[in-house]
Amino acid sequence: MYYRFPITRPRRLRSSRVIRNMVSETSLSPSNLVLPIFVKDEGSIEQINSMPGQYRYPIGDELIKAINDAVESGVRAFLLFGVTKSKDPLGSLAYDKNGPVPKALRLLKENFGDSIILMTDVCLCDYTEHGHCGVVEYRDPVQVTQTTSQPKYVVNNDATISIYAKIAVNYAEAGANVVAPSGMMDGQVKAIREALDNNGFTDVIIMSYSSKYASTFYGPFREAADSAPRFGDRRSYQMDPRNAYEALKEVSMDLEEGADIVMVKPAMPYLDVIRLVKQHYPEVPLAAYQVSGEYSMIKAAALNGWLNEKMAVIESLIAIKRAGANIIITYYAKEASRWINEVESIL
Ligand code: PBG
Repeated sequence: MYYRFPITRPRRLRSSRVIRNMVSETSLSPSNLVLPIFVKDEGSIEQINSMPGQYRYPIGDELIKAINDAVESGVRAFLLFGVTKSKDPLGSLAYDKNGPVPKALRLLKENFGDSIILMTDVCLCDYTEHGHCGVVEYRDPVQVTQTTSQPKYVVNNDATISIYAKIAVNYAEAGANVVAPSGMMDGQVKAIREALDNNGFTDVIIMSYSSKYASTFYGPFREAADSAPRFGDRRSYQMDPRNAYEALKEVSMDLEEGADIVMVKPAMPYLDVIRLVKQHYPEVPLAAYQVSGEYSMIKAAALNGWLNEKMAVIESLIAIKRAGANIIITYYAKEASRWINEVESIL
């Protein structure tokens, strides 16, 4: 037994702010934060209903201003998502060089050069008319036409990963520094690494959404990106919330296939998974995604006056960092970068 009262009094090390700062185990820095940004191919800037304070930006001056504001607060990394009404069964706008994401990449590279890191989500759900993350094959066309019940379908893994490879090359050509496959297809990292290397993009980083759970907390994002599946759900490809150890299999496979950074998503409901992955792979940079639903919960409580927004955001980010994440993707990146400077005077 090491610790015994009254010899040991843990309160001694909490007695003043200066002492608390000295013994603190966790620190936050704006350089670890990534801000997700929605870019659209037509129309004007819109606020996202379920995510007050977040917008869909057309490719133009408002987008440049938003990035510039974030840069001034200290944010250096951005994760782009495309929003479009031009959807088709194969999500072909995702690998079109005139899609919203390549256009945004070119504009931002032109304006910010290498002073920022541009990341792109590689997936199909924003671009497919059925809203699934891959190529859908209907197994029973008779049933689909004769009843209104849910169509029988499968998401074809191997057909999908070759499309992801094309998307990744398309984004790399437009200037992406990092591509982030989020579709949870088997072999997606391998397919993307090979395609990038074959096209000369050996320096483009892969940040894999290795353990992405089938989560209700993506709800507001699906409104933002108009990407909810029109039938069925994502449980045949995203991970089951009941499983933690399975994340180690996904991470191990992604590393074997060439992932540079791995991710756990969502963040707060999966802090145990963040910790588990970090303990098994301490040498691998680990990202955690504080997803749309996590943002909206804090925002809604704050707007109602039920929670102190700044303190709730700081505490949630510290929790994610303390669990073991090196990088945090958060819609609060800009505000948090400013608030982080106050941590030592508020905790
Ligand atoms: C695309 C993708 C999703 C998110 C990131 N990439 C949605 C989904 O899987 O349905 C969710 C991000 C968020 O909720 O903030 N597959």
